[in-house]
Amino acid sequence: MDKIIFALPGNETIANTIADKLHFPVGEMVLRSFPDAETYVRVLSNVDGKNAILVSTLYQPNSKLLPLYFLAKLLKDLGAKVTLIAPYLSYMRQDKRFHDGEAVSSEYFAALLSSFADELITIDPHLHRRNSMSEIYTIPCKVLHAAPLISSWIKENIEMPLLVGPDSESEQWVAETAAKMNTPYIVLNKERISDTEVKISVPDVVQFKNHTPVLVDDIISTAKTMIVTAKHLSEAGLKPVTCIGVHGLFAGNAYEDLLKAGVGRIITCNTILHLSNEIDVSDLIINSLD
Ligand code: R5P
Repeated sequence: MDKIIFALPGNETIANTIADKLHFPVGEMVLRSFPDAETYVRVLSNVDGKNAILVSTLYQPNSKLLPLYFLAKLLKDLGAKVTLIAPYLSYMRQDKRFHDGEAVSSEYFAALLSSFADELITIDPHLHRRNSMSEIYTIPCKVLHAAPLISSWIKENIEMPLLVGPDSESEQWVAETAAKMNTPYIVLNKERISDTEVKISVPDVVQFKNHTPVLVDDIISTAKTMIVTAKHLSEAGLKPVTCIGVHGLFAGNAYEDLLKAGVGRIITCNTILHLSNEIDVSDLIINSLD
């Protein structure tokens, strides 16, 4: 099936890299707001019988969702199959009814996306209480992992790393990254008190005094997890922490707060555009496209 690629606003860099490397045409469209802020979409390219690949990272998803929905529905109306590449997939963390009456948003969001895309490609979605995407998504999902890219970056940039996972959920990617590098790792205990408050306990790390701690997590949102962990590791006598997040959401002043916490470096993958992006995921996505 011939492929044609469409970038939702803000996703042009990755979409153009994919298009250039795989020689896919870039779809022409008009996506704009009417004066009353409703969305207008028009596709100018011929997409009939083609696989339309939409690139849309889903950080701050609420405002992105309706334009994406209209574009996907339109492409299907025009005869295309729709593949959604969402380098960051939102609403994966509300995966349980933590308190009576709460929405399990990850399920509702999955149902919505499954209703208008034919397949989904994403990177390190926050699968914690779910074992696989198929538990909530009804469309085929390809899950890509940034761990090999992160371990290459650490190998090239950090001498004697000690990988640190801030909580039990992080063990999956910290263990995988450490195994690829043959390097030690520790996983801490985290208790989330509220959206912006976490408690972390650190095991005895005295034998790692000469190592550089590298904190690896899937998401940096308020950065409280990294800030509190970095503080504990510094109090335990370790060197300044290098912080690596697959997805740097950096809500509010999180990036500045993390810098102020005295960490060494802050590095993220370019699943969400940010000045901390140093690990490029475009080849990972390219290799996943048949
Ligand atoms: C937790 O479930 C995730 O893996 C991250 O540890 C968490 O989302 C980080 O959030 P924050 O930066 O707000 O502490």
